Amino acid sequence: MFKNSVLTTIICAIGWIPLLAQQGLNKLDPAMEHKIDSVLNMMTLREKVGQMNQYSGGFEVTGTPSDLDTKAKIEKLKNGELGSMLNVLGAKNTREYQELVMNNSRMKIPLLFGYDVIHGYRTITPVPLGETASWDLKLIEESAALAAKESAAAGLHWTFAPMIDVSRDARWGRIMEGAGEDPYLVAMAGVARIKGLQGDDLADEATIAACAKHFAGYGFAEAGRDYNTVNVGDSELHNAILYPFKKANEAGVATFMNSFNELDGIPSTGNEYLQRKILKGKWGFKGFIVSDWASIAEMITHGFVANSDEAAQKAAIAGSDMDMEGHIYEASLEKLVKSKKVDEGIVDDAVRRILRVKFALGLFDNPYKYSDEKREKQVLLADENLAKAREIARKSIVLLKNEGSILPLKKDIGSIAVIGPLADDKDSPIGNWRAQGESNSAVSVLEGVQAAVSKKTKINHAKGADLGMGVRTFLKPLQINTTDTSGFDKAVDAAKNSDVVVMVLGEDAFQTGEGRSQTDVKLRGVQQELLDAVAGVNDNIVLVLMNGRPLDIVKPSNMSRAVVETWFLGSEAGNAIADVLFGDYNPSGKLPVSFPRAVGQEPLYYNQKTTGRPSNPSDVTYSAYTDLQRDAFYPFGFGLSYTTFAYSEISLSAPSFNKGGNITASVEVTNTGNTTGREVVQLYIHDQVASRTRPVRELRDFSLVDLKPGETKTVQFEIDEETLEFYTANKTWEAEPGEFKLFIGTNSVDTRETSFTLN
Ligand code: BGC
Repeated sequence: MFKNSVLTTIICAIGWIPLLAQQGLNKLDPAMEHKIDSVLNMMTLREKVGQMNQYSGGFEVTGTPSDLDTKAKIEKLKNGELGSMLNVLGAKNTREYQELVMNNSRMKIPLLFGYDVIHGYRTITPVPLGETASWDLKLIEESAALAAKESAAAGLHWTFAPMIDVSRDARWGRIMEGAGEDPYLVAMAGVARIKGLQGDDLADEATIAACAKHFAGYGFAEAGRDYNTVNVGDSELHNAILYPFKKANEAGVATFMNSFNELDGIPSTGNEYLQRKILKGKWGFKGFIVSDWASIAEMITHGFVANSDEAAQKAAIAGSDMDMEGHIYEASLEKLVKSKKVDEGIVDDAVRRILRVKFALGLFDNPYKYSDEKREKQVLLADENLAKAREIARKSIVLLKNEGSILPLKKDIGSIAVIGPLADDKDSPIGNWRAQGESNSAVSVLEGVQAAVSKKTKINHAKGADLGMGVRTFLKPLQINTTDTSGFDKAVDAAKNSDVVVMVLGEDAFQTGEGRSQTDVKLRGVQQELLDAVAGVNDNIVLVLMNGRPLDIVKPSNMSRAVVETWFLGSEAGNAIADVLFGDYNPSGKLPVSFPRAVGQEPLYYNQKTTGRPSNPSDVTYSAYTDLQRDAFYPFGFGLSYTTFAYSEISLSAPSFNKGGNITASVEVTNTGNTTGREVVQLYIHDQVASRTRPVRELRDFSLVDLKPGETKTVQFEIDEETLEFYTANKTWEAEPGEFKLFIGTNSVDTRETSFTLN
């Protein structure tokens, strides 16, 4: 409990009224609003601006600070001129920072601690793109809840996740961090993550505030080059980019982060239309918007403003509430308000939003409630967390090819070669945004295989080649090994002497992530040559891919009998992969992104427009390439199982429905193989004529169905106006009457088809 303060007096005077369980921040609690107003009324302008100021940690608050900078920062904390910190971790550290504020500042407003918990805090789950391949929203929610539980036990209040940027470009390194190319799937996965992180009550000790990022357009960086300019029209902006953010807001996400990019000439951070008009205006968002790292200051580099004062003015007016490590608000905002260049009401609005999140988290009740060292020890990396991580990991694996049913392998197979630069890599599966996941702590594929096979199975391991050279660091690009093939002979020997080869290729963890865009998405370095050499002596190749972006795997896939996409699966990667390789789990994942035939197809996505010239392969004057087919190598939604599924034709409860009504579409799905399996049944629509042209297919629903051999289940989908709505030429979200095609099937290409009418 915090000590005597002005605030204690206020709260005592008002009386303690337990806060209503918060469904995020969507419903305002009058008692809480009253308290926020009371606090706000007592704050000086400098204290208010302080709440809008966020620093990164990395300086000691205990002991005698040596450098001036640290001293100055500590003074800010003591004076209540900092509202939040990022990258301060651990129950002990967070407590020490909090004490500095609670014991010294006049208003004693608790600090908010934020951190990038993107796919786990200490127990690491699959990278978000990989986890989305499970299409299992309950599982995704549980994964986020696990991350929240560990983070909250380590003193954190807030994560900068989920990233819900629709991204269609394999060249963009951050595609790994999102949920892929489809707005609907990105939205659904995003909402599941928000629910998992925030739970039903932000004040619960095991939940933290989520942050929908990056608002907006960041995933559409031109040419897939990170931070690059974004140019999209109104339809793309709303229907593709903003749709997941709209859903995140409806789900009650506590915060948003704006983005580094400019959008049609206006940096998002200074974009009033996006933040003030749409998000806070039309959508009624109640939480606060944090800038991206120094993105307020970067508006100067963008050439959008001349100096700190102009940057602060634009950002505050546009609706950016908190300045992450930009030092712009602290430098300029107070004087801008005093000189009437920024209305104090804007500052009050921002502070009210920030306080609302702090109140909802219960920090005014107990600012130390998350900083509990005992709980931290018990919760981090607990056995049950690892078991959950393994379950999530195996459900995120996508089987792309299985010629002659080479998989699953028998556990008592005579010999097995495990080859490749990633075969015994215990670090890459942890991924790039690894939070407090320890380096080299994942179960490697080799270890997973070793643990799974019988005693009599001989394992022949050979790395073959390194993927990178020199030291890997977070900030430097990975130096790829393009010359050293000295390990090839050993790998060829291992392959020669084995019944089957598990070939583990792909990307190093530090090849994807922020700032890691690439012009080539083939297997890099000497990996293709290694595969060629191994394939020369053994035909039974099972290619296990580890990567954070869609790759051009045409050649390696054609050379392999099986292809297993495993992304970066986290702490339990090797065990989860072995579960699939040896049939303890029948793979059920489906691609959340299209895999290209060549990088020149990028940005590649299934939900394109038909164009005026869709297809005529005998002619050059149609929308295609003259040197390659235009479709994906492995399409969106694709993934095989060890069993097979048959779909009936679609039956509709009626051929049409009126606005306000609905119809039901059903298919019967049968497991026609010999193994129990899970199928992701996908529903797509095509609005045939609309006020803005619509994609050839759009995912609008899906359902997971578990089937025993020979079993049939009827899968039903309700179709109503919401299924059909889009941002129309009238600039409203609505369903337009007319003819619709309806597709239900196993991926975005292989579907049954029918049609119906909306009257
Ligand atoms: C990233 C954000 C992240 C922030 C804080 C930025 O570089 O774009 O997504 O949350 O850093 O680490």
